[in-house]
Amino acid sequence: MRKVSASTTIFALLFTTVAHGFLLGDPSNGKLIHQEKCAACHIGKFGGDGSEIYVRDNRRIKTVEGLMAQVEFCDRQIKSGLKEDQINDLVIYLNESYYKFE
Ligand code: HEC
Repeated sequence: MRKVSASTTIFALLFTTVAHGFLLGDPSNGKLIHQEKCAACHIGKFGGDGSEIYVRDNRRIKTVEGLMAQVEFCDRQIKSGLKEDQINDLVIYLNESYYKFE
């Protein structure tokens, strides 16, 4: 039993570290990157001020993991070569502004 609870603790610690890494991003930097690299194409396709795509009724993203994957996907499409912390900043910005996943 001790062993099980020890590894559970280690898992919880690892998980907390990852979660903190995620929360430590900078949404205002994400907003800047978004204006620079992301908004124009979304506006071209969905109109509005660029947020339409994130708040439309049939938006596709349902989880924070999905959001991360989509940001990485769009980043690869445009070959903008964003670094991992910039991706995090974007994900946090989009989540705080639009998606509001827990
Ligand atoms: C060349 C055009 C283009 C660029 C540039 C682009 N995207 Fe997208 N993005 C799209 C299209 C098209 C969709 C919709 C795909 C769909 O509905 O199947 C989309 C969808 C998304 C979604 C999901 C919206 C939903 O339905 O919930 C997110 C999140 C997203 N993009 C993030 C980004 C981020 C972050 C960047 C900048 C790094 C970016 N995109 C750059 C074309 C682009």
